[in-house]
Amino acid sequence: MLLPIVLLGDPVLRKVAEPVPADYPDLKKLSEDMFLTMYSANGVGLAAPQIGRSIRMFVVDGSELASEYPECKGFKRCMINPVITEESEETVTKEEGCLSIPGVYESVKRPAWIVVKYLDADFVEHEERVEGYAARMTLHEYDHLDGKVFVDKVSPLRKTFIKTKLQKISKGKVSCSYRTKPIK
Ligand code: NI
Repeated sequence: MLLPIVLLGDPVLRKVAEPVPADYPDLKKLSEDMFLTMYSANGVGLAAPQIGRSIRMFVVDGSELASEYPECKGFKRCMINPVITEESEETVTKEEGCLSIPGVYESVKRPAWIVVKYLDADFVEHEERVEGYAARMTLHEYDHLDGKVFVDKVSPLRKTFIKTKLQKISKGKVSCSYRTKPIK
């Protein structure tokens, strides 16, 4: 089932999401629906708050970026209650976008690699080192769980450049190819 995607301006994107309990109903189905929704919107990551659920869970799939970023090959994950246990001091700056902020692409500085501990959709624990663009995708989605979005991290100068665009999105004045949830 495709789920409507929440846009910047919806308060759910600014909330600190709650941990997912082991008895959360239909978690597997939710993860499948999130993957489907992400693929149909041509995204590489989608966090639960973006579909209006304030829980600590996201999906990523970097497969389509593998030619440019080999570290993304096979990087398909559902991460539940993730914790970043380590991050590199070395940083990399690259462009990002977000399904909740259509049409906005800006450079963001992030650690070059991280170690992340999480549960998969079967509630099995994993800990892995993630590099490069895959680390970027993970951190971008992780930020959503703490009520943060990537445009919070752009330079003050760029912020003034995109201000009007962001205001339009927050008022729902945006057209995109996927279904969005109207802002109340
Ligand atoms: Ni995003």
